[in-house]
Amino acid sequence: MGERRSVLSRRDFLSAGAAASAYVWIPQPVKGYSASDLRAVTADDVVKPGVSKWDLDTPALCLDLDAMEQNIATMQATLSRNGLPSRPHAKTHKCAAIAKYQLATGSIGICCAKLSEAEALSRQGIDRILMTTSIPAPAKIRRAMQLRKVNPQFIQAVDEEQNLRDLSAAAKEAGVIADVVIDVAVGTRSGIPAGDDALALAKLADTLPHLKLRGLLSYDGGVQHVKGFAARKARALKTIEVNAETCAAMKKAGLNVEIFSGGGTGTYNVMHLVPGFSDIQAGSYLFMDMQYLAIGSEDGDEVFKDFAPSLTVTTTVLNNRFPGRLTTDAGTKALTLNKPSPRVIGEPGMDYTAGSDEFGQIRFEQAVKTYKIGDKLEVIVPHCDPVVNLYDQVYGIRKDRVEVVWPITARGKSQ
Ligand SMILES: Cc1ncc(COP(=O)(O)O)c(C=O)c1O
Repeated sequence: MGERRSVLSRRDFLSAGAAASAYVWIPQPVKGYSASDLRAVTADDVVKPGVSKWDLDTPALCLDLDAMEQNIATMQATLSRNGLPSRPHAKTHKCAAIAKYQLATGSIGICCAKLSEAEALSRQGIDRILMTTSIPAPAKIRRAMQLRKVNPQFIQAVDEEQNLRDLSAAAKEAGVIADVVIDVAVGTRSGIPAGDDALALAKLADTLPHLKLRGLLSYDGGVQHVKGFAARKARALKTIEVNAETCAAMKKAGLNVEIFSGGGTGTYNVMHLVPGFSDIQAGSYLFMDMQYLAIGSEDGDEVFKDFAPSLTVTTTVLNNRFPGRLTTDAGTKALTLNKPSPRVIGEPGMDYTAGSDEFGQIRFEQAVKTYKIGDKLEVIVPHCDPVVNLYDQVYGIRKDRVEVVWPITARGKSQ
């Protein structure tokens, strides 16, 4: 784990609060902020002051603030040791307050996956946005250029010639010079193939009026969850080789390549070895989930321990009448169907299935304690990004008490 440090200035904390709009206060000073400091940014009493995590109505999306801050500190410490900054992906949290927190703690910008997500975060004052997904629809490109107009630090990914030309035309119409990066494929999900095609597209971007080429991005989604650090590292460095060669060719051709962005939670401590790489786009490191816990650490441990699980869902027992079984109120709509299944904290013998819309099913041979109807349990989520997208707000918890309530600003913004 990286060195622990205080991560947010008072001014940043308050401005993050203004963006987040809903705060509650617990009756102890937190990190030196007085109750009146925090009341000043409280727009909406979503829960009563001082409420315990265990008194929240369930299913409740909870975020352990100590663990999240430690995860951020660990990421920042590792990346600064490796000489790279972070540009975390906001698709994970979709939350303006957390984006502000990341920017206040050293990230050079954030990434967005969808235009509506970028618009929602931009409305809350997030300015340094890199859109990692290309936008093929002309009407939407015009919207992106409207966003660029109010947000001069907006950068758009492109991976196709017509798309580039449409962008240039939309930028002209909006009266802006649009910053673009070429999405150079790693694998087959998105992007233009590395090599001559990508180089030709970059050259075109450089010549089209109303565009400014900033470089490239290459995110390898397939490698992030490869089990075992050595295998993950070897594959990540192999698959990115042609992209690094493309980056070098772009530089050799005299093109501007200040950005060569990519990397995720599974490869955050690998990508600095790629020549020309400029920043890490990891997102899940903030929260962690069952999928990432399973990938294994650098020390050979089967559990990925670099970052601590900070995101959980609390759930209530609805039925305990059948031996070896419990029914809870957190099913697919609270936890998704993603695998691996949620893990019940403190109950290693329990198997949790979130297969029913509204109900979770737990089976066990032995439990640490006996559960009554109305008792609560807490689970680590299968995959953080889609779970966050199911909730209007996340409760920021410190020592089991609600400290903040952050709206999920871009919840449902998937267009
Ligand atoms: C383009 C891009 N960059 C970065 C990330 C963040 O990766 P992770 O959540 O694995 O850290 C993602 C996640 O899907 C992504 O699509």
